[in-house]
Amino acid sequence: MNPSLDYRPLYNAFREIISVINSSIRLKDVMDLVVWKYSEVLGARGAIMRLLNIDTDELEISASYGISQAYLAKGPVSLHRTITDACRQKKVILIEDIVNDPRVQYPESAREEGYRFIIDVPLSVADNVVGIIRLFFSEIRRFSEAELDWIIAIAEQCSCALGKARLIDSYEFKYLQLATHAEKLSALGRMAAGIAHEINNPLAGILLYSSNMIKKVPPGEPIEEGLQIIIDETIRCRKIIQGLLDFSKGRDPRKEPTNINEIIDKSIKILENEFHIHRVNLRTHLASDMIDVMADGSQLEQVFVNLLINAVEAVPEGGTVEVISSVGESRTSITIEVKDNGPGIGKKERDKIFEPFFSTKSKGTGLGLAVSYGIIRNHHGEISLQSHPGKGTRFIITIPVSQDTDSGLAGISTQETP
Ligand SMILES: Nc1ncnc2c1ncn2[C@@H]1O[C@H](COP(=O)(O)OP(=O)(O)OP(=O)(O)O)[C@@H](O)[C@H]1O
Ligand SMILES: [Mg+2]
Repeated sequence: MNPSLDYRPLYNAFREIISVINSSIRLKDVMDLVVWKYSEVLGARGAIMRLLNIDTDELEISASYGISQAYLAKGPVSLHRTITDACRQKKVILIEDIVNDPRVQYPESAREEGYRFIIDVPLSVADNVVGIIRLFFSEIRRFSEAELDWIIAIAEQCSCALGKARLIDSYEFKYLQLATHAEKLSALGRMAAGIAHEINNPLAGILLYSSNMIKKVPPGEPIEEGLQIIIDETIRCRKIIQGLLDFSKGRDPRKEPTNINEIIDKSIKILENEFHIHRVNLRTHLASDMIDVMADGSQLEQVFVNLLINAVEAVPEGGTVEVISSVGESRTSITIEVKDNGPGIGKKERDKIFEPFFSTKSKGTGLGLAVSYGIIRNHHGEISLQSHPGKGTRFIITIPVSQDTDSGLAGISTQETP
């Protein structure tokens, strides 16, 4: 302990900052208070807090105290110059020669403002430097061990607040994304169900009359070919409508204890030829400790077939598709992944992929994933997607073992391949 140092201002400022961190949900309040208290207690002319913008790799001003607008208006500060190894080791950096130190990006302006000495205090979250607080002094001064400890302690508290705020932001963002997706798909589902009902009856009539007429036409008549086209196209429309209905409300699944590995094997058998024709390799890693889930086997087979066909269609000749099944740690859910090394899916497409009729294929109906989504929702499960252009695609399905509970937001989430 240094008997000549007055610890009270340090203690009071620390208490004040902790109290704001605990009581305020606004990160800005915490940041403003930190730059103010640093300046006040240490006798600095001013302070700037800069946080890292991961998109631009630059440090952007998020709070300041006692700094002129002219100095604040200086261009962005580069990450690499400012965040040095010492910074990464969470050390306070004292810059005495501000004119020649490469970490000071605008030395002349700093001199004009009357700054002669700078100290940098790193802010880190989970071992990554996420920002820096720079304090400006009009003269070089020495700090006691206690003061340096105090500076670090405040920075640690501030970093905690930053980490907490980022976590809340990411959850909020994820929730909003899910909610908007679920809301959009549910609205689309309602619309699709309405359209499907309206079209189903006239289609049934067209099919009935054309089938009756073709029976009465003598074979070889030119009209026979036209009627056959009407029948084929009507059947195709009926299939599309059925897909829409499956997406919108789904047929009630007939659930019974089901071994998913067996369903995966069946789906693969159905597509064996497709893999062969397209010269696509298939790898399976099926859980040896698989447990039964309450599920409608034939509906899930449809989901796996849809995902596998998409994967086969996506990969080039010689590409690889992998199917992996596993049991969750708590053994209350199972997970199935269908992974390919195809071209991947861009952000814009990822957002639309589960919508009915979204297709990038010339002959695709765009119903495969919409129907799969409907089926997984009816099993209270989640279907999610990780993909990035050029890095393949991975669909992940999670199904709860017991189906008594509703998972709320019939989950979908899409993200870039990590
Ligand atoms: N594994 C994948 N890799 C790349 N893109 C994919 C993959 N799976 C799906 N897609 C994209 O998602 C779109 C929608 O897929 P979906 O299965 O719903 O319809 P589709 O395959 O186009 O038509 P169909 O109704 O015949 O299945 C596809 O057109 C394709 O652009
Ligand atoms: Mg498809």
